[in-house]
This record gives sequence, C-alpha cells and structure tokens, in this order.
Amino acid sequence: MNENAKRLAELEAAAELGGGEARIARQHDAGKMTARERVDLLLDPGTFVELDKLVTHRCSDFGMQDQKIPGDGVVTGYGKVDGRKVFVFAQDFTVFGGSLSGAYAEKICKVMDLATKTGAPVIGLNDSGGARIQEGVESLAGYADIFFRNVRASGVVPQISAILGPCAGGAVYSPAITDFVYMVQESSYMFITGPEVVKTVTHQEVTKQELGGAQVHGETSGVAHFESASEEECIAQIRELLGFIPSNNAEDPPFVPTSDPKGRRESSLATVVPENASKPYDIKEIINAVVDDGHFYEVHEGFARNLVVGFARLGGHSVGVVANQPSHLAGCLDINASVKGARFVRFCDAFNIPLVTLVDVPGFLPGVDQEYGGIIRHGAKLLYAFAEATVPKITLITRKAYGGAYDVMASKHIGADINLAYPTGEIAVMGPEGAVNIIFRKELAAASDPEAKRAELVEDYRRTFANPFKAAELGYIDAVIQPEDTRPRLIDALEMLSSKRESLPPKKHGNIPL
Ligand code: HXC
Repeated sequence: MNENAKRLAELEAAAELGGGEARIARQHDAGKMTARERVDLLLDPGTFVELDKLVTHRCSDFGMQDQKIPGDGVVTGYGKVDGRKVFVFAQDFTVFGGSLSGAYAEKICKVMDLATKTGAPVIGLNDSGGARIQEGVESLAGYADIFFRNVRASGVVPQISAILGPCAGGAVYSPAITDFVYMVQESSYMFITGPEVVKTVTHQEVTKQELGGAQVHGETSGVAHFESASEEECIAQIRELLGFIPSNNAEDPPFVPTSDPKGRRESSLATVVPENASKPYDIKEIINAVVDDGHFYEVHEGFARNLVVGFARLGGHSVGVVANQPSHLAGCLDINASVKGARFVRFCDAFNIPLVTLVDVPGFLPGVDQEYGGIIRHGAKLLYAFAEATVPKITLITRKAYGGAYDVMASKHIGADINLAYPTGEIAVMGPEGAVNIIFRKELAAASDPEAKRAELVEDYRRTFANPFKAAELGYIDAVIQPEDTRPRLIDALEMLSSKRESLPPKKHGNIPL
C-alpha cells in the first residue's frame, strides 16, 4: 500500500470511529444509535455515498488544534430510500457532543445545496449540544447559513428533521423551518432555553422532558409532527412518509398501484354518521374505510385532535386528507387546529398533493382565550391556505358545515373543484338551536309553552335549512352522494382533476396572516 493510500485508510477509520469506543458505548448505553448506524438504517442497504469524510474544523483556541477528528462530528452524503435519491446529514454526538463548528455547518450546507439543485429531499438526523463553544461566532454564522438554506429550499424539496437527542438554543430553528419534525420519546428534547435558565428567570422548576420532550412538542406546542417510541420506529416512519411525497416541487407524488378496487362501495359507511346531529363519531372511521387498503398516515396526531390531517392514497394517487374530528371538541376549529391545518394544506399545495377535505364542523370555538389568543388571525391562516392552494381540491360535507367554518373548510367559494355532501349534510349559518333562539326570541318569550314552541321551531328550521339541498340547488354542492359511494366518487373526482392546471396571479409572495 503506498503512503497516501495507507493514510487514507487511517483517516477513514478515524472518521468511522468518531469520538471513540468509550463515547460510542456511552451513546449506546443511553439507548441511542450512532450517526452512522442511523444513516445505515435510514437508507437502502449499500446506497450511502459519503461526502466530506475528511473535513476537519479550523479552530485553534482552547487546544482544539490537537483535537481533530475527520468528519468533524457530522456524517453527510446521499443515498436512496425505496430506490429514490435523498440527501442526509447525521449529527454525531460522540464528537464534541455533536456540536456545530464552521466546517461542520459547511458540510450540511453542501448537501442542502446539492439537494436543492438536484431536486431531492433533505433528511437531518439531529443529536447535538448546539453551537461549538470553542468556536464562537463562526459557529453562529454556520447556523445562519443553514437557516438561510432551509428557507430557500422550503417548497422546493421536502425537508425532514428527526430529533434524536438534544436540540437547544437557536439550533432549534433549522428543524422548525423544515416540513416535518419527528421526535423520539425519552431521548430527545428541544427548547430555546433549558431548565436552568427557565428556573433563573421564571423560578419554575421543570425537567428537560417536561420542558421540551417529544410528548410536549407532539401534543402541546405542536412543534413536532410525530412522536416515536424508538429511533428504529422514527426512521421507519420517515421512510414511509417519503413514499407519499414527491422528491421536489416539479414532480408528482409517487403512484403506488393497489389491489383495492377503485369502485369499492363500503356498506359500513351508511351508518357511521349518527342520526342525532349532536352525537359524536370518529371521522377516521370514514377515512380508513375509504382510502386504499385502509392505510392512513396521520400527521400531527397528538396535536389539535379536533382536526385530523395526514396522507393516504386513493386509487394509487397520494392525497392530503384534512378532516374535522367530531369526537374531539365536536370538531370545531380553534387556534391550534387552524394552524395545524394551514401548514399541512400549504405543504400539500407546494408539493402537488391533491387535497381531500372532510367537513363536519359546528363553527369556530367560542371563548375569551381563543379571542385573546388571536383566533381571528389564526383562523384566517386556514382560510388563506385553502384559498391559495391550486392543487385539486375535493370537499365532502358529512354533516355540519356551519357559519364561517363552512366557508373556510375548502368550500366551493374559496376554490374547491368538486364539493360533495352526504344526505346528512347540514349547511347553514348556524345550528338550529342557536338560530331559533336568535330569530324567534320574541315568539319564544310570548309562547305559553316556550319549550314546546322551541322544539317546534327547531324542527321547522332543521327541515328547511339543516340539509344539503339548499346548497345543492345553488350549485355550491356539486352532488349529494350516498355514503357507500364515497370511495368511487372521490377517486373519480381525483382522476377527472388530474390534469388540473391553475396558477396564482403573478406576485412576489402573498402575505398570509402570521
Ligand atoms: C463543545 C460540547 C458542547 C458544545 C457538549 N459538548 N456540548 N463541546 N460545544 N456546545 C461536549 C462535552 O464537552 C463532552 O465532551 C461531550 O460533548 C458530551 O457532553 P456531556 O455534557 O458529557 O453530555 P451530556 O451529559 O449527555 O449532556 C449533553 C448536553 C450538555 C445537555 C448537550 O453537553 C450541554 O449542556 N452542552 C452545552 C449546550 C450549550 O450550552 N450549547 C450552546 C448553546 S447556544 P467530552 O470530551 O467529555 O466527551 C447555541 C446557540 C445556537 O447552541 C445559536 C444558533 C443561532
């Protein structure tokens, strides 16, 4: 072996050893995989091509000149997931705690640039103590270089973040800009300032997990879209997500042939929506019964459960499903549901994924907290997102579509292409009880038996307005369909719309109410 070949072998071995056996053992003892193990699990076997394996940092302060590890704490490159190209960076906690140096940031930027130019997703596996303390401003500059690329790549290629350890301080903002954030229970956390700072400033005592664990971000803050029980599950979930989405904004999502017949009528749907309009039911029963092979990939499952969003396929075509959930807060729209829905709709629109919207919404959630929290501003986001979306939009009203929420939930008036309703659909300004209390206040006050009068008026109102026929007469609903026919009707509409071409008026960008 010549001298340089020998040197290369030594450098590569050093890069592969990262922070050394002891730190790898510590990583394993903490229930975590190493960066390389994670990359191997993510990519199809034998497809990983590593870049910048020999890069080292440039810091000479604090004795750092004597501590150089080839690769410098981040493993970067490209490979395949189910045969499709993806770019990946995996932070190596065994090397300086996975902390980010200037050179390390340049490695990440290089794969982001290649991904954007070649039109492939970027997957970041995060496990880092943040800015490399020995480097100072060079590290901060490196973060900003990454943020800048996250923003420029947004809507061009899908960006996915897995949080598999610490992710704190300003470092959180790269994952925050990406399209989907996965967190692993117990071993990962994200926060702007940690428990010590929180205690100093607010005198509140919290653990890392209480402040920024997977459950907090998956269910309370909404920062994380997925909570996984283990790293293996997290990586499997990422691979599955990629199957629903295109590699870039110029492509269509992958078509996945199915043996589930397009014309399958589903008799169970005839009774899913209860006769009694105030009785809850699980909207996922309809979703699961209708989509290919009953397979629904739910996004943001634990957050704002009153709105369900996720991916599925209909006749082999990927769709984004947005659905009110009557079994949680009666399916009303609140701040969190509006923001959750808006972000999902915008992802689907950016990446050519048609939207199927299932509506059963009694309105926006009333309340002082909601008003003070800006439900007007946040609700407007969902309205804006649906109206802005130019992908095929199919809407099905299963039961209630009341008030402003009727307009917002992909109504005909804000650009839906096909609007369907079940015979149980109720499209009105408000529910019968509320309407009768307002418009017949005087009659009710004067009635000898106000309750009997109220019941009579409510029934009258229900017959006149609480149905889909008025909207169908006006052409706001294209067809009232039997629930059993949902799947064939949705697939038919989707195929009819597959050649839809619509673009927005030329502009730099809109001004979504943030
Ligand atoms: C350099 C770091 C480091 C860092 C950890 N290490 N964080 N080295 N810069 N930021 C090193 C440790 O010295 C140690 O080296 C090894 O990584 C593992 O760290 P431990 O502390 O032993 O691990 P653990 O107990 O698991 O604790 C992990 C940790 C803790 C919670 C992440 O290390 C920590 O608090 N680190 C500092 C976090 C921080 O304040 N970062 C800067 C935030 S500001 P040895 O040689 O012993 O293995 C920031 C700004 C970003 O990030 C701004 C963007 C705009």
